[in-house]
Parts: sequence; C-alpha cells; structure tokens
Amino acid sequence: MACFFRRSIAAKLGRALQQSEDVFINALSAVPVFKKQSSPVFKLPITVLQSSGILPSTGDIQQQTENLAHQLHQDSVVEEISAGPGVINFKINRKLLVQKMVEPFGGEEDDKFGLNSELFKDLKRGTTLVEYSSPNIAKKFHAGHLRSTIIGNFIANLKQSLGNNVIRMNYLGDWGMQFGLLGAGFGQFGCKEKLKQNPLQHLFEVYVEVNREAEHNEDMKEAARDFFRQLEHHESEAVSLWKQFREITVDEYQHVYKRLGVHFDVYSGESFHQDQAQTVVQLLQSRGLLKTSERGTSVVDLSPAGDMSSVCTVLRSDGTTLYITRDLAAAIDRKERFQFDEMIYVTDKSQANHFQQLFQILLALGHSWADRCQHVPFGLVRGMKTRSGEVVFLEDVLDEARARMLHNMRQTKTTKELENPEDTAEKVGISALIIQDFKGPLLSDYKFDWERMLQAQGDTGVFLQYTHARLCSLLERNEGAQADVVDPSLLLEHTSLNILQHLLRYDEVLCQSAQDLQPRHLVNFLLKLCHLIALAHRELPVKGSSQDVAQARFRLFRGACSVLTNGMKILGITPVDKM
Ligand code: ARG
Repeated sequence: MACFFRRSIAAKLGRALQQSEDVFINALSAVPVFKKQSSPVFKLPITVLQSSGILPSTGDIQQQTENLAHQLHQDSVVEEISAGPGVINFKINRKLLVQKMVEPFGGEEDDKFGLNSELFKDLKRGTTLVEYSSPNIAKKFHAGHLRSTIIGNFIANLKQSLGNNVIRMNYLGDWGMQFGLLGAGFGQFGCKEKLKQNPLQHLFEVYVEVNREAEHNEDMKEAARDFFRQLEHHESEAVSLWKQFREITVDEYQHVYKRLGVHFDVYSGESFHQDQAQTVVQLLQSRGLLKTSERGTSVVDLSPAGDMSSVCTVLRSDGTTLYITRDLAAAIDRKERFQFDEMIYVTDKSQANHFQQLFQILLALGHSWADRCQHVPFGLVRGMKTRSGEVVFLEDVLDEARARMLHNMRQTKTTKELENPEDTAEKVGISALIIQDFKGPLLSDYKFDWERMLQAQGDTGVFLQYTHARLCSLLERNEGAQADVVDPSLLLEHTSLNILQHLLRYDEVLCQSAQDLQPRHLVNFLLKLCHLIALAHRELPVKGSSQDVAQARFRLFRGACSVLTNGMKILGITPVDKM
C-alpha cells in the first residue's frame, strides 16, 4: 500500500538527514497519473523541508535538491532517485507496486482500504457535531438547503470514516413569526384533511395566504403577533398546534431524507432554545457585555475599539430573542450535552458574518471551545427549476431527477432489464445532483443544469454509477477468476500500472478533503479513476485470457471497484450494481 512506499522513502531521508523518518511521511506525495507516463513516482518538494527547518531556508533550492538527491541511494524498493525543479523524485519498483497495491483486495477488508493510512495519524479524532440541512418549517426549501444537506452529509461521512464519533444534527427553523402567522391563519385558510395528505405543501400554501392577507389586514397582523406571544408563553393550545405542524413536517422530511440517503441523529431546532436564549442574555448582562442601543434593543459591542461601530443585536426592544440569541444558547447547550471536540455548521456564505459573530460572542463569554467551531460556507445555486417551475420542495427536485434519469435510461438500448428501474433512476439521478454540486470549490456559485449533470459521458455522477455498475457486472460474470494469490508480473502494462499508481493517491486525497472539508478532491480522484477503468475495460479483458492473467486482472478490477464504491459512499452516493 501507499504507506509501505512512503515509509521506505522516509526511512532513506531520515538516515541521510539524521531525522526521525516520521517527519517526511506527510511531505511525500504520489505523482498524479498522466497519459504518457507510467512510472510510479513519489515526490518530495524541497520547500517543505525548508519550511519545517530540516534544511536551511536560505540557500539555492536547486542546489539543495541536487545535493540531497545525491546523498540518497536506490535499492530494491526505490529504483531511481532524481532531482527535478525543486523536487526529488522517487521511482518505485513496478512489480513491487503491483504486489503491494493488489494485496489489500484479496481478503475481506476492501472497505478499509486507505483509511488506516499513516497520513491520518496526527489527525485529531474525537466527537464531531455536524449541523446541516436545517430547513425552516412552512417556508420554502431552497437550493441552499439542498446544498447544506448533501455537503453536511459528506463531511459527516468523511469524519466518520476517519474514526471520529459523529453526531448528525438538523437544526430546524421551527420558531419565529411564521408560526404566529400560521397559527393565526390556519383556522381561516387551513384544512386538516389537506394537512394530512400533503403537509409541507399545505403549510406552505397557508403561509403564503396568511402573509398576503397580513399585508393589508392589520387585524391579521395583530392576531399573528398575539399567537406568537402565546407560543412564547407556552400556552397550551398554541403549543399543541405548533407541535402538530412541527411533527408532521419532520415526518415528511425524514421520508425525503431517506430518499436522499441522508439521516440525522438529532432533530433539534430553534424552538428548543427559546428559554435558554433569555438566560444567555442575562449572562451577557452579568458579564457587562450587554449595551442598550438608541432604538432600545440590547446589543453586544463587537468592535475592536469598543466604540459600538460594530454591534450584534441579541434582544429586540420588546424583549424577544433573535436568531443569533438562539444560536448562542444552542451552541452552549450542545457543548454540555454532547461534549463535542469540534462543531461544524454548514450553510450558504450569506451567513458567514452571523457565524463569525456567534463564535466571537461565545469567546467573549469565556467559551474557549468556540475556537473549535467552524462554519463551512458554500456559494449560491442559480436556476434550480423543475419542469413545473420554481422549486419549493426538496421532493420536487428528487422527483424530477428521477423522471429525467428514467427517461434517459429508456433511450439507451443497453439498459438491462432492471427489477426496479425507478429505484435505480432515483439513485443515479441523486448522484448526478451530488457530483454537479461537489465538482468545484464549495464557495463558488454555480448554475444548475439538468442536461449537463445527467450526461452519461463526461464528468458526472451518472458516469460514476455507470462505471460502478459495469465493474460489478464484470466481477459477477467472472467470479471464477477470483484467486487468493495473483502474479504481480502479469499486471505490468501501462493501463494496469496507471490504475494502481492512481490508487496510491487515495489516502492523500482523503487527507486533503479532511483538511479543507472540500469534496472536490475526492470527486476528481474518482472521476479520473473511472476514466482509467474505461481504458482497462477495453484493453484488459478478463474473459478469454489465460487463467493466471484473468485472475490478476480480476483482482485489479476488484480493487478499482472497491475504492470507487468506498469513495462514492463517502460522498453520500449509493452505488448501483446495475443500470
Ligand atoms: N434555518 C436556517 C436557514 O434556513 C439555517 C440554520 C443554520 N444553522 C444555525 N445554527 N444557525 O437559513
């Protein structure tokens, strides 16, 4: 495996530079595969040695590179050591590469491949709370909520794979004036029957109706304020209606999340922290952090100079709390309840300032763990529409993805007789959504494009699924070629070597994604893997080859398939075996 090679190169470096070999492990990286190149190479950038103080940071880099390359000697693992521009290249023995890389796929531990890498040894493991999705009851589920859902799920999966204890939390927007309006207007515009049949749709309709009414009807506005006041004072009738709205919404969402392959350990929400939010305000008060603004609101001064040039409002003039106040209470409560080591919030970038203020106030309150809270922001999606128009519900997007995919699948003659084509179309459609979303930096905005994301060729989720299904069918058809021991000298062609060399990078790629929480490293790795597999399908037939060649190739395909499966699952994609 990759670790074996990194270790032996690091040992060489350790001896030459009289350092512990450990310091070199994370500095070495496998060179990405290019079309023409098929030599398995690790590289070490000299600047890394300079910045870690192992080599003097002054002095001619090229000279240092060449000197060091000179000091190192080849052996049976590393066949060639050469100095490139500012990097040392270590070419490893091909046969050994094959032997080490196919080894892990001989037994039952395929799903662990890469996860126990030495690269992760310095990674902090502990309890990670990831908060994602967090839609607002009765309001629109917009593209931002979809992004938050799939990105948060990816982060949670990745953290879990790397050995963290992960708590997945959904923080519903289940409090606020929308309930005042709903509560006040439900009697007039609502219908219990419709609420049962299609809760999300109906609550949204009522919400829209009441809002329209309240625009010109002062009585409606007053009734809404009154209802919300009743809620804040826990009056039982109001609370029971609110509870009903919340429960049916959560039920409904759970159903849709299941389709998406997403789940939560905790359904929390703003409502839970209503009373605690008042306590936080008192705490701020007692610490002398609360000021009263000219408008009568209570604010925390966040300006460096203490001149109120930047403030955060935590209490309205009527004494009610705000979004941030509830977030403060929620964070403190979560820390007490879950003892997390880190907490990650996933929302669109428009809330970056909100979270910065949140963390700053927590720190001011003496909660040093706020330094281990992080906001993962993402950009906007433009033009997410379905055939029937603008998207209001998550379900509409999933239905449309499924319908379009089903349509595409029916166009191709090669589509096998599937037991449940809808289910396959659903899974493939969702993977298309995910890959479109994960391909670039999360912070970038992008344009939602049904046609492009569903293309079978090209860098799409459909392509990943197609490759996976094709591998599964190859493995199934050639089951007889499964062998305990394979001969590495039968996998020395360009095409096999490229795949194995590419697999060398898997742990590095996971490590990169774990560091910056960006899925694109893993996505691009898997897409590239699929391109290499497509070549192998053409050039390395299993069927019709002699038994030992068939066995060796079978193992290669099995390894590639395992890594593809594992990677897809981390991204939150359910791989299909047939399509
Ligand atoms: N419900 C919010 C919205 O839709 C997102 C909540 C994000 N999480 C938080 N702890 N503030 O905008």
